[in-house]
Amino acid sequence: MGKCPACGEWNTLVEKPVVTGPAKRQLSASVPGASHKPVPLGEVELSGEDRVPLGSAEMDRLLGGGIVKGSLVLIGGEPGIGKSTLSLQIPLMRPSLKTLYVTGEESVRQVKMRAERLGGDLSNCYIYSETLMDNIIAEAQEVAPDLMVVDSVQTMYCQSVESTAGSVSQIKETAAVLLRFAKETGIPVILIGHITKEGSIAGPKILEHIVDVVLQFEGENKGPYRVLRSIKNRFGSTSELAVFEMTGTGLREVENPSEMLIPMHEDGLSGTAISAMLDGTRPFLFEVQALVSSAVYGTAQRSATGFDVRRLNMLLAVLERRAGFKLSQKDVFLNMAGGLKVTDPSCDLAVVVAVLSSNFDYSIPKDVCFAGEVGLSGEIRPVSQAERRVREAARLGFKRIFLSSYTRLDQKVEGIEVTKVADIPALVRSLFRG
Ligand code: TYD
Ligand code: MG
Repeated sequence: MGKCPACGEWNTLVEKPVVTGPAKRQLSASVPGASHKPVPLGEVELSGEDRVPLGSAEMDRLLGGGIVKGSLVLIGGEPGIGKSTLSLQIPLMRPSLKTLYVTGEESVRQVKMRAERLGGDLSNCYIYSETLMDNIIAEAQEVAPDLMVVDSVQTMYCQSVESTAGSVSQIKETAAVLLRFAKETGIPVILIGHITKEGSIAGPKILEHIVDVVLQFEGENKGPYRVLRSIKNRFGSTSELAVFEMTGTGLREVENPSEMLIPMHEDGLSGTAISAMLDGTRPFLFEVQALVSSAVYGTAQRSATGFDVRRLNMLLAVLERRAGFKLSQKDVFLNMAGGLKVTDPSCDLAVVVAVLSSNFDYSIPKDVCFAGEVGLSGEIRPVSQAERRVREAARLGFKRIFLSSYTRLDQKVEGIEVTKVADIPALVRSLFRG
């Protein structure tokens, strides 16, 4: 309002924030270690032992050294990918951890059957088949476990909310109740959530800001490999990645992912290139596959599995405009080995090489790998932590790695030759020379 309705004057109204009720106070008081007054950061005391190791080396690394007490961890993924298996395996492999496994999807017997298949110690794992949150919280307080698993958020409901289980408001309320429970009791909670292929809106996406940690399970349903990726972590770094293999007796940790992501096929196949990747802290190598063929129909098709199609289109445009390769009339298919989803731009170089290799039917020697980002003017940009990638490549027996000219390497790595290239034409000259 510009004019005061009481005195009739203009521009005399002033905006003031209104503090309503003690609601905010109550909320913050429920966080353990919450202070009621602001304190200098330097005076805040840290207690060392607030992480519980889960006994799975890969999970612990992903979480930043074990699950933090009182934290809420969301494991998301498509149905059938292995979320229930993974979260049941944790207590079975680490019986010293008293675990309450709440399932809203399977009967107690079904879980038992699965547990027997997985093997391990069943003695300290409590199964509870229930979907009403109020009951779950009550039982959890009674059992007082060291770890609680709730499978899945879509099946739980709270009486305080009227809508059906699986609706947005139920999902939010369930997560909020569990978060409060975790913070109040200090019990870490693993919450499982389904995501459909389209990344369903009424799914874990709406929870990402509520929970402390988000781990996402990815991988082709039919292939044996599963990648668990940390998307958000309030207590550690993200973009960490753990690889599992689904076997007849549950998920097996793959300690060295390069072993599975590097192909077993013969030398001399065109259209493939090995990329030296880095996920968070761990370098690993994997294969990029491309197939380029003349377009049958008028418009060329572009499709990519595990890689952003828009980025592929950009790389193809760069190849066309900056290096003169005629690709606009060609179909281009791209695939990342092992059902991996790649977002790291350092994989650009391998994509470009795989495309060119397929286009010219020229195979890249088996012991050569690549790491570099490709810019719009065709320049090849340096990647982070190049030295670690070079070391990993050398360790796996690679003899040559292509990097950007602008990469700084402080130390020479034995047994591997580093070839530095400034742009696409330079890459082509040194790769397809002769
Ligand atoms: P599951 O953990 O039930 O998936 P989610 O909870 O994410 O929906 O995993 C189910 C799939 O895993 C199912 O297709 C069968 C397979 N599986 C195995 O191959 N081996 C096993 O030991 C187990 C328990 C499951
Ligand atoms: Mg399940």
